[in-house]
Amino acid sequence: MRFRWSIDLKLIIFFLISLGSLVIFYYVEDKAAFINFFFIPTLLAGYFYTTKGSAITAITSILFVCIVAFMSFEDYIGFIRQEVLLWGCFLIVSGYVIGALTERINAAHLATIATLALAMESRDAYTYGHSSRVAEVAVRIARKLKLPRYQQRTIRIAGMLHDIGKFGVREEILRKKGPLTEAEYDHVRQHPFIGTSILSPIRLLKDTIPYIYYHHEHVDGKGYLHKTGFEIPLGARILAVADAYDAMTTNRPYRKALSRERILEIFKMESGKQFDQKLVKALLEITDDLKTDISPPEPRGMKAKISL
Ligand SMILES: [Fe+2]
Repeated sequence: MRFRWSIDLKLIIFFLISLGSLVIFYYVEDKAAFINFFFIPTLLAGYFYTTKGSAITAITSILFVCIVAFMSFEDYIGFIRQEVLLWGCFLIVSGYVIGALTERINAAHLATIATLALAMESRDAYTYGHSSRVAEVAVRIARKLKLPRYQQRTIRIAGMLHDIGKFGVREEILRKKGPLTEAEYDHVRQHPFIGTSILSPIRLLKDTIPYIYYHHEHVDGKGYLHKTGFEIPLGARILAVADAYDAMTTNRPYRKALSRERILEIFKMESGKQFDQKLVKALLEITDDLKTDISPPEPRGMKAKISL
């Protein structure tokens, strides 16, 4: 099974706007008037890529303006002193402020999500911390695949919220110590769809919805909705692997955590059936091939700052 790499559209748009600003500034006669064009990419970088992105864009813009001034004016020192110095300071400060505001909003967003996940998990002591751990393992797989940062962030949020639909599952079923009856299992199987309807009014979470909706699909079509392979979004396939990994490495009411040999055996057996082969390979690589380290990574949980 081959991977489909996703393209960061925001990055392409941002690059085109930056390039447009550079070209306009280079060719225009009245450079002093068009110097403010660089506010557009700098503020966008602050919005999309936070303080680091805005700082890099502002400094690159200032350097570019200085180089063009050197090439265009005899008195380039005068142009830099009169036009560039004050403009450059405003450019850096404005970009930084937008970036810092975006970081604060993102952190508040993530904290709210973590609180929601913890509230849901508090109904069942056995799954406490499960969502943060699934999110962490899923992001590590995404990083291993070198997915774009915005997609890693979506996968982290989807991981934290993947079982939010269990709010709609009766507590006596969630806490049941023995195996579930067929009717109870059918009830539990509704949780991806309940989760989707809980979250669908939140526009900020729209990208996570498909990952949550399909997180119990198997690549061979034997999941809840019988979707196969690429019909299942990549983020959902990643969540399925991370979810199973965390379930196997932790105690449950009906069984103890599995041994590393057994987990290795299950993942190898289910590679290409329940799980995407490439994702199993990535998981085995990030967990040191499951031979030396089977313990789930420490969740970043509430402390997680959006740095993706
Ligand atoms: Fe689930």
